[in-house]
Amino acid sequence: MDEERNLVAIILIMWYLLPAYLANTVAALVGGGAPIDGGRNWSDGKRILGDGKTWKGLIGGTIGGVITGMIVLKIGNPISGVENDILNLEGNDYVHVSVVLSFGALFGDMLASFVKRRMGFERGSMALGLDQYDFVVISLIMTWLVYGQWIEELFSTHIWRELMTIFILTPLLHRGVNIIGYKIGVKNEPW
Ligand code: CTP
Ligand code: MG
Repeated sequence: MDEERNLVAIILIMWYLLPAYLANTVAALVGGGAPIDGGRNWSDGKRILGDGKTWKGLIGGTIGGVITGMIVLKIGNPISGVENDILNLEGNDYVHVSVVLSFGALFGDMLASFVKRRMGFERGSMALGLDQYDFVVISLIMTWLVYGQWIEELFSTHIWRELMTIFILTPLLHRGVNIIGYKIGVKNEPW
């Protein structure tokens, strides 16, 4: 009984965070070309963001995440028999939440690159912790700032269980997708 509830919670949280995960994946798939920082350096003489953060990745990834979000949020709770009305958004809110989840993910990824550059990490280097969690943490925080009630509802049953799910599954998914991306040649490093 309890195990079943845990599984439901794990599926739900991953389901609703799909737009954030997909935004990141699509950015890597379609990225390249003109960098967002325009090739400019920060006052420390290092790139502001680096060549790994491009307009194509940002825009394409956001669009990919928004499309994912519109499907996921329109379908709503995928597990029948679970009462969770508040998670079903009204009107166009499902589009807005999709935008914030997706853009938030890519914004978090940009923030991480900014921090990595300030710490002297080259583009593409691995920054343990930062690379794995940047997008999902900032995506959640930004969505919480705009749609606090929805995020609070998502985490309402057992906040530690939801957080642990994200903490454990995010790096595994991140790594798994990156290895695939590396093997099929759309990513330069397998991390
Ligand atoms: N990407 C992009 N634009 C973005 C985000 C990602 O073009 N806004 C693409 C880039 O081709 C990038 C790849 O996705 O190389 C993988 O993303 P990520 O691992 O976040 O970038 P890194 O190249 O590792 O650069 P950084 O060290 O700044 O994280
Ligand atoms: Mg990287």
